[in-house]
Amino acid sequence: MMDMTFRRHRRLRSSANMRALVRETNVDVQDLIYPMFVEEGLQGVTEIGAMPGVSHYGIDEFRREIVRISELGIPGIILFGIPAEKDDLASSAYAEQGVVQTAVRAAKQENPALIVMTDVCLCQYNPAGHCGLVRDGKIVNDASLELIAKTALSHAAAGADVVAPSDMMDGRVQAIRETLDAHELTDVAILSYAVKYSSAFYGPFREAAHSAPSFGDRKTYQMDPANVREGLREAASDVEEGADMLMVKPALSYLDVIQRVRTSFDVPVATYNVSAEYSMVKAAAAQGWIDEKSIVMEMMTSFKRAGADFILTYHAPDVARWLAETKGTY
Ligand code: PBG
Repeated sequence: MMDMTFRRHRRLRSSANMRALVRETNVDVQDLIYPMFVEEGLQGVTEIGAMPGVSHYGIDEFRREIVRISELGIPGIILFGIPAEKDDLASSAYAEQGVVQTAVRAAKQENPALIVMTDVCLCQYNPAGHCGLVRDGKIVNDASLELIAKTALSHAAAGADVVAPSDMMDGRVQAIRETLDAHELTDVAILSYAVKYSSAFYGPFREAAHSAPSFGDRKTYQMDPANVREGLREAASDVEEGADMLMVKPALSYLDVIQRVRTSFDVPVATYNVSAEYSMVKAAAAQGWIDEKSIVMEMMTSFKRAGADFILTYHAPDVARWLAETKGTY
Protein backbone atom coordinates (compact mmCIF):
# COMPACT_ATOMS: atom_id res chain seq x y z
CA MET A 1 0.00 0.00 0.00
CA MET A 2 1.36 3.36 -1.10
CA ASP A 3 1.62 6.08 1.58
CA MET A 4 -0.84 8.86 1.02
CA THR A 5 1.38 11.85 0.49
CA PHE A 6 -0.82 13.91 -1.76
CA ARG A 7 -4.37 15.17 -1.84
CA ARG A 8 -6.92 13.90 -4.37
CA HIS A 9 -8.52 17.07 -5.72
CA ARG A 10 -10.09 15.13 -8.58
CA ARG A 11 -12.59 13.48 -6.21
CA LEU A 12 -14.73 16.62 -6.29
CA ARG A 13 -14.62 16.80 -10.09
CA SER A 14 -15.76 13.24 -10.68
CA SER A 15 -19.22 13.93 -12.15
CA ALA A 16 -21.36 16.75 -13.43
CA ASN A 17 -23.49 16.64 -10.27
CA MET A 18 -20.43 16.68 -8.02
CA ARG A 19 -18.96 19.65 -9.92
CA ALA A 20 -22.27 21.50 -9.68
CA LEU A 21 -22.42 20.79 -5.94
CA VAL A 22 -19.06 22.38 -5.19
CA ARG A 23 -19.27 25.16 -7.72
CA GLU A 24 -18.33 28.50 -6.15
CA THR A 25 -19.70 30.88 -8.77
CA ASN A 26 -22.91 30.85 -10.76
CA VAL A 27 -24.15 32.99 -13.60
CA ASP A 28 -27.86 33.69 -13.55
CA VAL A 29 -30.13 35.52 -15.96
CA GLN A 30 -30.81 37.90 -13.05
CA ASP A 31 -27.21 39.11 -13.32
CA LEU A 32 -27.63 40.57 -16.80
CA ILE A 33 -28.25 44.10 -18.00
CA TYR A 34 -28.63 44.54 -21.76
CA PRO A 35 -27.23 47.74 -23.36
CA MET A 36 -29.46 49.09 -26.14
CA PHE A 37 -29.06 51.88 -28.69
CA VAL A 38 -32.11 53.92 -29.66
CA GLU A 39 -31.88 56.23 -32.65
CA GLU A 40 -34.12 59.26 -33.04
CA GLY A 41 -36.17 59.25 -36.23
CA LEU A 42 -35.03 55.79 -37.36
CA GLN A 43 -37.60 53.50 -38.97
CA GLY A 44 -36.94 49.85 -38.14
CA VAL A 45 -33.48 48.62 -37.13
CA THR A 46 -29.94 48.85 -38.46
CA GLU A 47 -27.30 46.39 -37.39
CA ILE A 48 -24.05 47.92 -36.15
CA GLY A 49 -21.24 46.90 -38.50
CA ALA A 50 -18.57 46.22 -35.89
CA MET A 51 -21.00 44.57 -33.45
CA PRO A 52 -22.85 41.73 -35.22
CA GLY A 53 -26.16 41.00 -33.49
CA VAL A 54 -26.37 44.48 -31.92
CA SER A 55 -28.56 47.11 -33.55
CA HIS A 56 -29.77 50.66 -33.53
CA TYR A 57 -33.49 50.65 -32.90
CA GLY A 58 -36.18 52.98 -34.07
CA ILE A 59 -38.78 53.46 -31.35
CA ASP A 60 -41.36 50.96 -32.69
CA GLU A 61 -38.83 48.18 -33.15
CA PHE A 62 -37.38 49.08 -29.73
CA ARG A 63 -40.76 48.35 -28.15
CA ARG A 64 -40.86 44.93 -29.82
CA GLU A 65 -37.32 44.18 -28.64
CA ILE A 66 -38.28 45.10 -25.06
CA VAL A 67 -40.98 42.43 -25.22
CA ARG A 68 -38.52 39.85 -26.59
CA ILE A 69 -35.85 40.46 -23.98
CA SER A 70 -38.44 40.53 -21.19
CA GLU A 71 -39.63 37.09 -22.33
CA LEU A 72 -36.04 35.88 -21.97
CA GLY A 73 -36.13 36.92 -18.31
CA ILE A 74 -33.51 39.65 -18.65
CA PRO A 75 -34.23 41.95 -15.69
CA GLY A 76 -32.98 45.24 -17.08
CA ILE A 77 -31.52 47.38 -19.84
CA ILE A 78 -29.22 50.37 -20.09
CA LEU A 79 -30.14 52.90 -22.74
CA PHE A 80 -27.93 54.90 -25.08
CA GLY A 81 -29.41 57.52 -27.37
CA ILE A 82 -28.44 58.64 -30.84
CA PRO A 83 -30.02 62.06 -31.25
CA ALA A 84 -31.06 63.67 -34.53
CA GLU A 85 -29.30 66.94 -33.62
CA LYS A 86 -26.10 67.81 -31.77
CA ASP A 87 -25.16 71.23 -30.40
CA ASP A 88 -22.46 72.71 -28.17
CA LEU A 89 -24.67 72.61 -25.06
CA ALA A 90 -25.76 69.01 -25.81
CA SER A 91 -29.35 70.19 -25.44
CA SER A 92 -30.94 67.04 -26.83
CA ALA A 93 -29.33 65.13 -23.92
CA TYR A 94 -31.83 66.70 -21.52
CA ALA A 95 -34.81 67.40 -23.80
CA GLU A 96 -38.11 66.14 -22.43
CA GLN A 97 -38.95 64.59 -25.80
CA GLY A 98 -35.36 63.44 -26.37
CA VAL A 99 -34.56 60.02 -27.71
CA VAL A 100 -33.63 58.43 -24.35
CA GLN A 101 -36.50 60.07 -22.47
CA THR A 102 -38.95 58.77 -25.12
CA ALA A 103 -37.41 55.29 -24.97
CA VAL A 104 -37.61 55.19 -21.16
CA ARG A 105 -41.35 55.89 -21.29
CA ALA A 106 -41.83 53.30 -24.06
CA ALA A 107 -39.86 50.60 -22.20
CA LYS A 108 -41.89 51.18 -19.03
CA GLN A 109 -45.13 50.95 -21.00
CA GLU A 110 -44.10 47.61 -22.51
CA ASN A 111 -42.82 46.17 -19.22
CA PRO A 112 -43.27 48.18 -16.02
CA ALA A 113 -41.18 45.63 -14.09
CA LEU A 114 -38.11 46.06 -16.31
CA ILE A 115 -35.23 47.88 -14.61
CA VAL A 116 -34.55 50.81 -16.90
CA MET A 117 -31.10 52.32 -16.55
CA THR A 118 -29.83 55.23 -18.60
CA ASP A 119 -26.30 56.17 -19.57
CA VAL A 120 -25.83 59.80 -18.54
CA CYS A 121 -23.24 61.52 -20.69
CA LEU A 122 -22.87 64.39 -23.13
CA CYS A 123 -20.57 62.85 -25.75
CA GLN A 124 -23.27 61.62 -28.12
CA TYR A 125 -25.00 65.01 -28.00
CA ASN A 126 -22.32 67.58 -28.81
CA PRO A 127 -20.26 67.90 -31.99
CA ALA A 128 -16.95 67.80 -30.10
CA GLY A 129 -17.81 64.27 -28.98
CA HIS A 130 -16.47 64.83 -25.48
CA CYS A 131 -18.18 63.74 -22.28
CA GLY A 132 -18.16 67.26 -20.81
CA LEU A 133 -18.43 70.80 -22.13
CA VAL A 134 -15.57 72.09 -24.24
CA ARG A 135 -14.14 75.57 -23.77
CA ASP A 136 -10.98 76.76 -25.52
CA GLY A 137 -10.10 73.21 -26.44
CA LYS A 138 -10.41 71.99 -22.84
CA ILE A 139 -13.02 69.77 -21.25
CA VAL A 140 -14.27 71.85 -18.34
CA ASN A 141 -15.38 70.11 -15.19
CA ASP A 142 -17.65 72.29 -13.10
CA ALA A 143 -19.64 73.84 -15.94
CA SER A 144 -20.40 70.32 -17.19
CA LEU A 145 -21.96 69.23 -13.89
CA GLU A 146 -25.11 71.25 -14.31
CA LEU A 147 -25.82 69.77 -17.74
CA ILE A 148 -25.03 66.26 -16.57
CA ALA A 149 -27.35 66.66 -13.58
CA LYS A 150 -30.04 68.08 -15.87
CA THR A 151 -29.66 65.08 -18.17
CA ALA A 152 -29.99 62.64 -15.26
CA LEU A 153 -33.02 64.56 -13.98
CA SER A 154 -34.76 64.35 -17.37
CA HIS A 155 -34.16 60.59 -17.52
CA ALA A 156 -35.46 60.12 -13.98
CA ALA A 157 -38.50 62.30 -14.68
CA ALA A 158 -39.26 60.09 -17.70
CA GLY A 159 -39.30 57.06 -15.38
CA ALA A 160 -35.74 55.67 -15.30
CA ASP A 161 -35.05 53.52 -12.22
CA VAL A 162 -31.31 54.00 -12.31
CA VAL A 163 -29.17 56.77 -13.80
CA ALA A 164 -25.60 55.86 -14.69
CA PRO A 165 -23.19 58.77 -15.21
CA SER A 166 -20.32 57.74 -17.51
CA ASP A 167 -18.73 61.14 -18.11
CA MET A 168 -15.99 60.91 -15.43
CA MET A 169 -16.28 64.57 -14.39
CA ASP A 170 -15.46 65.09 -10.71
CA GLY A 171 -18.47 65.79 -8.49
CA ARG A 172 -21.13 64.51 -10.90
CA VAL A 173 -22.59 62.01 -8.45
CA GLN A 174 -23.14 64.73 -5.85
CA ALA A 175 -24.61 67.07 -8.46
CA ILE A 176 -26.99 64.39 -9.70
CA ARG A 177 -28.07 63.26 -6.21
CA GLU A 178 -28.80 66.83 -5.09
CA THR A 179 -30.77 67.56 -8.26
CA LEU A 180 -32.82 64.36 -8.06
CA ASP A 181 -33.57 64.89 -4.37
CA ALA A 182 -34.56 68.51 -4.95
CA HIS A 183 -37.16 67.22 -7.44
CA GLU A 184 -38.45 64.52 -5.10
CA LEU A 185 -36.89 61.77 -7.17
CA THR A 186 -35.31 60.30 -4.07
CA ASP A 187 -36.02 56.70 -5.14
CA VAL A 188 -34.01 56.88 -8.33
CA ALA A 189 -30.68 55.09 -7.84
CA ILE A 190 -27.25 56.10 -9.10
CA LEU A 191 -24.98 53.52 -10.68
CA SER A 192 -21.69 55.33 -11.06
CA TYR A 193 -19.24 54.43 -13.79
CA ALA A 194 -16.76 55.13 -11.01
CA VAL A 195 -13.77 53.23 -12.30
CA LYS A 196 -13.80 53.90 -16.00
CA TYR A 197 -10.61 53.55 -17.95
CA SER A 198 -9.50 55.36 -21.06
CA SER A 199 -9.74 52.22 -23.14
CA ALA A 200 -9.30 51.16 -26.74
CA PHE A 201 -11.99 48.58 -26.00
CA TYR A 202 -14.68 51.25 -26.58
CA GLY A 203 -13.84 51.53 -30.30
CA PRO A 204 -16.88 49.76 -31.79
CA PHE A 205 -19.22 51.59 -29.38
CA ARG A 206 -17.97 54.98 -30.55
CA GLU A 207 -18.68 53.97 -34.11
CA ALA A 208 -22.11 52.76 -33.03
CA ALA A 209 -22.95 55.87 -31.01
CA HIS A 210 -21.27 58.32 -33.40
CA SER A 211 -19.45 59.67 -30.36
CA ALA A 212 -15.74 59.55 -31.21
CA PRO A 213 -14.02 62.75 -29.99
CA SER A 214 -13.46 65.24 -32.82
CA PHE A 215 -10.13 66.28 -31.30
CA GLY A 216 -7.77 64.88 -28.70
CA ASP A 217 -8.68 61.91 -26.54
CA ARG A 218 -10.40 61.18 -23.21
CA LYS A 219 -7.28 60.81 -21.13
CA THR A 220 -7.84 63.96 -19.06
CA TYR A 221 -11.00 62.47 -17.58
CA GLN A 222 -11.01 58.69 -18.08
CA MET A 223 -8.45 56.70 -16.09
CA ASP A 224 -5.04 55.40 -17.04
CA PRO A 225 -5.27 51.59 -17.53
CA ALA A 226 -2.09 51.24 -15.48
CA ASN A 227 -3.74 52.38 -12.23
CA VAL A 228 -5.78 50.56 -9.62
CA ARG A 229 -5.29 52.64 -6.44
CA GLU A 230 -6.59 55.64 -8.37
CA GLY A 231 -9.70 53.60 -9.12
CA LEU A 232 -10.26 53.03 -5.41
CA ARG A 233 -10.02 56.80 -4.82
CA GLU A 234 -12.59 57.39 -7.57
CA ALA A 235 -14.87 54.77 -6.05
CA ALA A 236 -14.50 56.22 -2.54
CA SER A 237 -15.49 59.70 -3.77
CA ASP A 238 -18.53 58.36 -5.58
CA VAL A 239 -19.75 56.35 -2.60
CA GLU A 240 -19.33 59.40 -0.40
CA GLU A 241 -21.19 61.57 -2.91
CA GLY A 242 -24.13 59.16 -2.89
CA ALA A 243 -23.56 56.43 -5.49
CA ASP A 244 -25.76 53.42 -4.74
CA MET A 245 -23.72 51.08 -6.94
CA LEU A 246 -20.30 51.18 -8.56
CA MET A 247 -19.13 50.06 -11.97
CA VAL A 248 -15.77 48.92 -13.29
CA LYS A 249 -15.34 49.34 -17.04
CA PRO A 250 -14.09 47.58 -19.18
CA ALA A 251 -14.37 44.09 -17.67
CA LEU A 252 -12.12 41.49 -19.26
CA SER A 253 -8.73 43.17 -18.82
CA TYR A 254 -9.74 44.59 -15.43
CA LEU A 255 -10.69 41.58 -13.31
CA ASP A 256 -8.14 42.60 -10.68
CA VAL A 257 -9.83 45.99 -10.44
CA ILE A 258 -13.27 44.40 -10.01
CA GLN A 259 -11.87 42.32 -7.19
CA ARG A 260 -10.23 45.29 -5.46
CA VAL A 261 -13.41 47.36 -5.67
CA ARG A 262 -15.49 44.41 -4.44
CA THR A 263 -13.30 43.89 -1.37
CA SER A 264 -12.95 47.61 -0.58
CA PHE A 265 -16.63 48.68 -0.72
CA ASP A 266 -19.86 47.09 0.39
CA VAL A 267 -22.15 48.59 -2.27
CA PRO A 268 -23.13 46.41 -5.25
CA VAL A 269 -20.50 46.30 -8.00
CA ALA A 270 -21.23 46.04 -11.70
CA THR A 271 -18.89 45.55 -14.60
CA TYR A 272 -19.32 46.52 -18.24
CA ASN A 273 -18.32 43.88 -20.77
CA VAL A 274 -17.70 46.53 -23.43
CA SER A 275 -18.03 46.70 -27.19
CA ALA A 276 -14.60 45.48 -28.33
CA GLU A 277 -14.71 42.59 -25.86
CA TYR A 278 -17.94 41.58 -27.62
CA SER A 279 -16.67 42.23 -31.15
CA MET A 280 -13.51 40.16 -30.64
CA VAL A 281 -15.57 37.17 -29.57
CA LYS A 282 -18.00 37.61 -32.46
CA ALA A 283 -15.21 37.94 -35.03
CA ALA A 284 -13.32 34.86 -33.82
CA ALA A 285 -16.55 32.85 -33.56
CA ALA A 286 -17.53 33.81 -37.13
CA GLN A 287 -14.17 32.43 -38.29
CA GLY A 288 -14.83 29.18 -36.46
CA TRP A 289 -11.76 29.75 -34.28
CA ILE A 290 -13.55 29.59 -30.91
CA ASP A 291 -16.70 28.07 -29.46
CA GLU A 292 -18.76 31.19 -28.80
CA LYS A 293 -21.02 29.81 -26.08
CA SER A 294 -18.19 28.29 -24.03
CA ILE A 295 -16.06 31.39 -24.37
CA VAL A 296 -18.87 33.76 -23.38
CA MET A 297 -19.99 31.66 -20.41
CA GLU A 298 -16.40 31.43 -19.18
CA MET A 299 -16.09 35.20 -19.45
CA MET A 300 -19.36 35.78 -17.56
CA THR A 301 -18.25 33.35 -14.86
CA SER A 302 -14.92 35.17 -14.49
CA PHE A 303 -16.69 38.50 -13.99
CA LYS A 304 -18.79 36.98 -11.23
CA ARG A 305 -15.80 35.19 -9.70
CA ALA A 306 -13.84 38.47 -9.63
CA GLY A 307 -16.69 39.93 -7.58
CA ALA A 308 -19.18 41.57 -9.93
CA ASP A 309 -22.79 41.39 -8.73
CA PHE A 310 -24.11 42.08 -12.20
CA ILE A 311 -22.87 42.44 -15.76
CA LEU A 312 -23.73 44.89 -18.51
CA THR A 313 -23.25 42.86 -21.66
CA TYR A 314 -24.26 42.76 -25.32
CA HIS A 315 -24.24 38.96 -24.97
CA ALA A 316 -27.22 39.15 -22.56
CA PRO A 317 -29.90 37.70 -24.91
CA ASP A 318 -27.62 34.80 -25.93
CA VAL A 319 -26.60 34.11 -22.32
CA ALA A 320 -30.26 34.15 -21.26
CA ARG A 321 -31.13 31.66 -24.02
CA TRP A 322 -28.21 29.36 -23.20
CA LEU A 323 -29.06 29.39 -19.49
CA ALA A 324 -32.68 28.52 -20.26
CA GLU A 325 -31.66 25.67 -22.59
CA THR A 326 -29.32 24.12 -20.06
CA LYS A 327 -31.39 24.92 -16.94
CA GLY A 328 -28.49 26.92 -15.58
CA THR A 329 -25.90 24.13 -15.74
CA TYR A 330 -23.86 25.46 -18.63
C1 PBG B 1 -20.13 57.26 -23.09
C2 PBG B 1 -19.90 55.80 -23.04
C3 PBG B 1 -18.94 55.03 -23.71
C4 PBG B 1 -19.23 53.70 -23.43
C5 PBG B 1 -20.32 53.69 -22.57
N1 PBG B 1 -20.70 54.99 -22.33
C6 PBG B 1 -17.86 55.44 -24.62
C7 PBG B 1 -16.72 56.18 -24.09
O1 PBG B 1 -16.67 56.56 -22.93
O2 PBG B 1 -15.81 56.47 -24.89
C8 PBG B 1 -18.53 52.49 -23.99
C9 PBG B 1 -19.34 51.23 -24.04
C10 PBG B 1 -18.78 50.16 -24.90
O3 PBG B 1 -17.66 50.24 -25.45
O4 PBG B 1 -19.49 49.14 -25.05
N2 PBG B 1 -19.26 58.05 -22.38
